[in-house]
Amino acid sequence: MIMSRIEGASGADRDELTGRLLAGLPADAVLTDPDVTASYANDMASFCPAGRPAVVVLPRTVEQVRHVMRTATALRVPVVPQGARTGLSGGANAGDGCVALSLTRMDRILEIDPVERIAVVEPGVVNADLSRAVGEHGLAYPPDPSSWETCTIGGNIGTASGGLCCVKYGVTAEYVLGLDVVLADGRLMSTGRRTAKGVAGYDLTRLFVGSEGSLGVVVRAVLALRPRPPRHLVLAAEFASARAACDAVCRIMAAGHVPSLLELMDRTTVKAVNDLTRMGLPETTEALLLAAFDTADPAADLAAVGELCEAAGATQVVPADDAAESELLLQARRSSLTALEAVSGTTMIDDVCVPRSRLGDLLDGVERIAARHRLTIGVVAHAGDGNTHPTVCFDAQDPDASRRARESFDEIMALGLELGGTITGEHGVGLLKKEWLARELGPVGLEMQRRIKEAFDPLGILNPGKLF
Ligand code: LAC
Ligand code: ZN
Repeated sequence: MIMSRIEGASGADRDELTGRLLAGLPADAVLTDPDVTASYANDMASFCPAGRPAVVVLPRTVEQVRHVMRTATALRVPVVPQGARTGLSGGANAGDGCVALSLTRMDRILEIDPVERIAVVEPGVVNADLSRAVGEHGLAYPPDPSSWETCTIGGNIGTASGGLCCVKYGVTAEYVLGLDVVLADGRLMSTGRRTAKGVAGYDLTRLFVGSEGSLGVVVRAVLALRPRPPRHLVLAAEFASARAACDAVCRIMAAGHVPSLLELMDRTTVKAVNDLTRMGLPETTEALLLAAFDTADPAADLAAVGELCEAAGATQVVPADDAAESELLLQARRSSLTALEAVSGTTMIDDVCVPRSRLGDLLDGVERIAARHRLTIGVVAHAGDGNTHPTVCFDAQDPDASRRARESFDEIMALGLELGGTITGEHGVGLLKKEWLARELGPVGLEMQRRIKEAFDPLGILNPGKLF
């Protein structure tokens, strides 16, 4: 394939690359100190190889991004677009000798329009900053990954991020209306719309969402906003088995409820969170379900859902008294993965999404896999979406434990596919799940994806080696 010919810059090539980049970028936007460039090598995934960038560029304007891409095309150098590098699949990891193209300095909110209910932003805007800014206009940008205080909108678009409230409001793809994209050769393309409707041509906007920087560099996005909902109220329900909690999830969804989040933490996760935060969550429970409503009468909705939880066998149902207590429960949930990391030092975070009705089968299967490999696997899940994060906790210094971790991680994906699910609900493929993407798509699907890649990036310089 053409793509395999692309190699990173080294030696004299690197000097030429830097010199050419400096012709269109200010000196402080081109970093070559190896200690500094090394700090741009990784995102937050475990077990993904990363090389050393030849150079890190931090453009502030669309024209500067175009210059970077024209230079990379002229010299045939790979480019790895990066946001805040909070991703969990190695999608933003550098290859040796690449240009790491960090979009973090393009962080302006260009427009907030309450009539059209849109925001126009640069890719480096931090998710939470956007939420706060639109909140001042009585609006909301719903997609809320757990890393929302640091992750960027460009990264969210690249990985098609989800989050906690997606069970009600949907994922990033549903909020991206239009994009400005710098193509591999430096041309600027606009996709999509800023109107409420629009069906002109193929939906290239959607194609870019989740493309992991492999098709072009997003330099501007038109995002849909919603009216800001009332503050939500949270309920915590304890169950004597994970299966009973999954049964409650099915009952809640089948009854037509629309919770603003519906999250599950298993016993391992609850204990890990208590150890880290001293929050005093109930440790006798096998599974804790958190349900929230941001409706006009959240207490009434929570009461109805509480009854369904009890019918499914909940041993205890505790609605939060107020917004502050609700926030505390959500903080516990958001700290789950940090807490699991503290258990044995390293984690591999899976992201399989299954039909809700198969959630119980998946969780039982994960328990069997953990027992067989003698490993701790904590499960935290966006249960309302069937999207689970079975998180393998192990000591990376122990080669045997590392091997067993990798095997169990793979077995969980195999189980997810067997249950009619997908290998990734919201974290993307990156380097971590490359072989698995091929399995999920099949040969025809994979071939068509490769052809799309070649149409946009014939030289294969954009984020090579990711996805497939
Ligand atoms: C979460 C991230 C890891 O759910 O997706 O916390
Ligand atoms: Zn998640």
